[in-house]
Formats: sequence, structure tokens, C-alpha cells
Amino acid sequence: MESLPQIGPLHTDVVIVGNGPSALALSFMLAGHRPYYDGTPLSNEFLNDRLVKDMEVSLVDKELEPLCEGLEGRSNNPVALLFDNLFHPDADLGLDNPSVIDWKHEEQTEIDHVVLGKTKAGGTWQKIDGTMQTISQNTWMELPNVPFREWMAQNRRNSGVGEPMYGRATIGDVKDYYLDYVKSQGLQRYFKDNYTVTSVQRVYHLRNAVDSESGEVEPCCRNVRRNHTHCWEVRGYHSVFDDQGQAISRQDFCYLAPHVVLAAGAYDIPNRLGVEGENRPFVTHSLGDFEKHLSSSALNTLSDPVLVVGAGLSAADAILMAMESNVPVIHVFRRGPSDPSLIFSKLPSTMYPEYHRIHSLMKGKETSELYRPMARHNVIEILDHKVLVGTKKQDQMATFDISFAAIMIGSRADLGFLPREGRHLGVVPKWPIDSKHNPIDVDVYSYQSAHEPQMFAMGPLVGDSFVRFGIGGALGIVNHLRKCHKKENL
Ligand SMILES: Cc1cc2nc3c(=O)[nH]c(=O)nc-3n(C[C@H](O)[C@H](O)[C@H](O)COP(=O)(O)OP(=O)(O)OC[C@H]3O[C@@H](n4cnc5c(N)ncnc54)[C@H](O)[C@@H]3O)c2cc1C
Ligand SMILES: *[C@@H]1O[C@H](CO)[C@@H](O)[C@H](O)[C@H]1NC(C)=O
Ligand SMILES: *[C@@H]1O[C@H](CO)[C@@H](O)[C@H](O)[C@H]1NC(C)=O
Repeated sequence: MESLPQIGPLHTDVVIVGNGPSALALSFMLAGHRPYYDGTPLSNEFLNDRLVKDMEVSLVDKELEPLCEGLEGRSNNPVALLFDNLFHPDADLGLDNPSVIDWKHEEQTEIDHVVLGKTKAGGTWQKIDGTMQTISQNTWMELPNVPFREWMAQNRRNSGVGEPMYGRATIGDVKDYYLDYVKSQGLQRYFKDNYTVTSVQRVYHLRNAVDSESGEVEPCCRNVRRNHTHCWEVRGYHSVFDDQGQAISRQDFCYLAPHVVLAAGAYDIPNRLGVEGENRPFVTHSLGDFEKHLSSSALNTLSDPVLVVGAGLSAADAILMAMESNVPVIHVFRRGPSDPSLIFSKLPSTMYPEYHRIHSLMKGKETSELYRPMARHNVIEILDHKVLVGTKKQDQMATFDISFAAIMIGSRADLGFLPREGRHLGVVPKWPIDSKHNPIDVDVYSYQSAHEPQMFAMGPLVGDSFVRFGIGGALGIVNHLRKCHKKENL
């Protein structure tokens, strides 16, 4: 493989690691697109009263804490709830109201930044190819300034089910919407595709050295340690591909910035069962690989079943894919099928008929020759095209022939680019970061790490696993950075 000279060190104000919807929304706002309340009355009168004061002041220049007071909803982050209340008013009452945010492009407020992503813009949505429907209503995947439905109409999309069913979109639509967003909003110059970050560390520079070397404006919110000022040094490599998609060269890069934002999502490392045989070639932990296998192999009704492990949406998706291809499934899951903590119990059946069907099959309310549930069972070992499963106490065990296996038991962030994999950043110290159980500990208004000043995190990394709430982090971060800039300019 050809090796090229290093890119950089380059200076910027903010480096964003990851290029999914969180980063897209943040880049849009950093580019100088500023949100204003447009005055449309909201059903929440308290919020309404607070917003109509100083309507000419952008939300990024307002104090967020009083605005967020008393807001409740499906996020633990108050700024995410505030943003959602304005972006999707009364969405949780089942209403589909337009956003009450007016975006104004005020270029002089631009904050210089780069967005680094392993592949193309769109994050996780780039990885799952396909016709699968998303679990959210399509407008909930929307980013600032580009109503999803208008985009769909302009691109003459139809979601494949005639009248778009309760407004759900396919993953393919969402992926294209995000890709298109970078272009339509003029963000290309900030986005660096195929840039994989391998290390983020704090470095110190002699104050004067930084200034004379770069000749740039001094970094904002400096954390001066004696006579030194600190910066984040972000390193990694840029992959260059040929027409066939083969990597032909790798070019190292280095960015220096006073602020770094972790928007790396929480899906890069699949969880593992930790059983013997899990690495066998007919076992996958990726829904995308499973989909590819189903379409490329000659599996059919008469084949040995595929094994699907897990009881979340990805497992359900795998089962749906297999059954659609007429391939029999053995479904092994630990919990009871009526366990209220299962995600299926929380999805309204009218909106999600297919997930509801899987749930009925799991409970045995509905049966199919293609589907065999093994509730309250664990995988004990995976042998050559066989699986040994048993109950928790292992008082009942059985072996089945299988042709392929999909282990769909969740995933977590790959923070290998941080010292100690970011274990010092979580709400529970020393434990790996996990969207559900151990998000990154941040100040709830600025999204700044409680442990690393000038490091920020958003999206699933701070517990917001839905786009609708994840992108609210952009408001918190830009609001904070604006305050820094003002302080610097005094
Ligand atoms: C199968 C599936 C279905 C989903 N359905 C829905 C849904 O219907 N509705 C909904 O709201 N949410 C859904 N989600 C969740 C949704 O994907 C996330 O809420 C959203 O994508 C989070 O955005 P993000 O930008 O924070 O992170 P991501 O979208 O995860 O993007 C982060 C990107 O950063 C990249 N990255 C990580 N590390 C590095 C590095 N070291 N260097 C460079 N790049 C890096 C990752 O590869 C990834 O591409 C779904 C998720 C999955 C997996
Ligand atoms: C990134 O890589 C993909 C192939 O994986 C390629 O199609 C795309 O053009 C690359 N993007 C850039 C900006 O180099
Ligand atoms: C730090 O700066 C002060 C003046 O501001 C100077 O007296 C001192 O020598 C400097 N220390 C170092 C280690 O450069």
C-alpha cells in the first residue's frame, strides 16, 4: 500500500469525531446557522412565556437552564428536551407539528471546525444497507432546515408501501437524506470522509509558541496551566480507495484544536456472548453481514435453520429478514417473552405491525413453521454448524443443527482512540462507556465532559439513542462555545 506524507498538523477550533446525524446537526450550527424561536404558540405555556421574551436573541445566545426548567420527556438531557419541544412540538402527543425554529445564516458567527468520519457522512445509517424500515416516524430523523417530507417529495421517493405508512421511512432514504444534507447545506468543506481517528490526547504548548507558530486567533476557553495552553491533538489516517473500493493508500493526519466533540455513536463494537465457538465463520454479530449472507447463500425452507440470539430490534430485524427469505429460524433469548422490559412492549402495535408479529411469535400467540422460540434460554456453545442451548440452571439442554448464526445482543462505542478507552469519562467510573448503562458524564447544559474540560460528547454517547434527541446536543455545545467566544473578545 502506498504511503503518503502526513496531513497537518492543522489548526481548527473544534474537531468532531464521527459524522452521523449528531455531527451533521452540530456542523450546521457551527457553520453559523442560528436558531430563533419563530413565535408560533406552543402548548406548553410556561415554555412559551419564557421564549417570547427577547425573541430577537438566538437560542444559542440565551441562557438555556431557565428555558429548560420543568421539561419532561424521553431524554434525560434537558437541552435535548428543549430542542425537541421546538423542533417537533407535541410529538409525544402524537401530533406532527412543524418546527417553530427559524434558522438564519449569520456567517460572522461561524466557528471553524472539521468533521472526521470513518466512512461517508451519515454515521450508522451508512452501514446498514437496505429496505428495512426505521423504527421512528420519518420526520424524527430530520435535521435542521430540511423538512424530511419535503425532501422525500422533491426526490420523488416513495417508501415502497404506497401511502407512507404512518410516515416511516426506509433506512436507505434516511441515509441518502443525510448524504444530501452535507451538500444542500454547503457543509462539504467541513466534512472529511474516510478519516479514522486513532488517538485523541491533550497536549500542552507554550502559550507564545502556539500563537507565533500558527499565527491564528488564540484558541477560546484556554485552560492555561502555568504558562502553557492546552490543545487536543487528534490523530488518525485517511484511507484512499480505488474504483473497486479497495484501499490503496493510507495517509496519516493530525489536527490541533482547543475543543473536541465525541459524536462517535455507540454501535461500533457488537456485544459478544463470550461462549466457545463464537468466532466460527458462520457466526456474525452484524445485521448487515446477516442480510448479505441471506441474499448470497442458497438457504431456503429446507435448509437447517439460522440461529438468532437476542430480543431487541436488531434481533427482530434479523428474524424478519430470514422469514421473508423463507429460511427457518431458531430464536434464543434470555428473558421471558412477556417481560415488560422488552422493547416490543413499548412500541404501539398499530405503528409497528411487523415487530408486533415477532412479539406474538415469541409469546407463542401466533405460530409459524419457520419460527421456533427458545425463551429463557442461553447459548452454551457453538459447535460446527450446531448450537448447544440451555436454560439458566442448565437443567434442560439441547443441540440444534444450524446453517448460520446472528448474535444480536446490542453494541457499544469504540472509544479505543481515547486513553483507557475513555473509561474515566463515564457516569460510573472505570467501566466501559455504554449508551444505556454508563453514558459519558457531561454537564447537562454544555455537554462538556465532567472529567475532561473542553471535551464534549453528544448522541448515544450521552444516552440519547434516538436522532430526535441526540441532535439537541448541538444547541448545548454551540451555546457554550458562543459564551467562550464572547468572554475572549471582551
Ligand atoms: C439498526 C438501527 C436502527 C436504528 N433506528 C433508529 C430509528 O428508527 N430512529 C432513531 O432515532 N434512531 C435509530 N437508531 C439509532 C441511531 O442510529 C442513532 O440515534 C444515531 O445514528 C446517532 O447519531 P450519532 O451521529 O450520534 O452517531 P452514529 O450515527 O453512530 O455516527 C457516528 C459515526 O462515527 C463513526 N466513528 C466512530 N469512531 C470513529 C473514529 N474513531 N474515527 C472516525 N469515525 C468514527 C462511526 O463509525 C459512525 O459512523 C438506529 C440504530 C441502529 C443501529
Ligand atoms: C470514501 O471511500 C469511499 C469508498 O469506501 C469512496 O466511494 C468515497 O469516494 C471516498 N470519499 C472521499 C471523500 O474520499
Ligand atoms: C511564566 O510567566 C511569568 C510571567 O508571566 C514568568 O515570570 C515566568 O518565568 C514564566 N515561567 C516559565 C516556566 O516560563
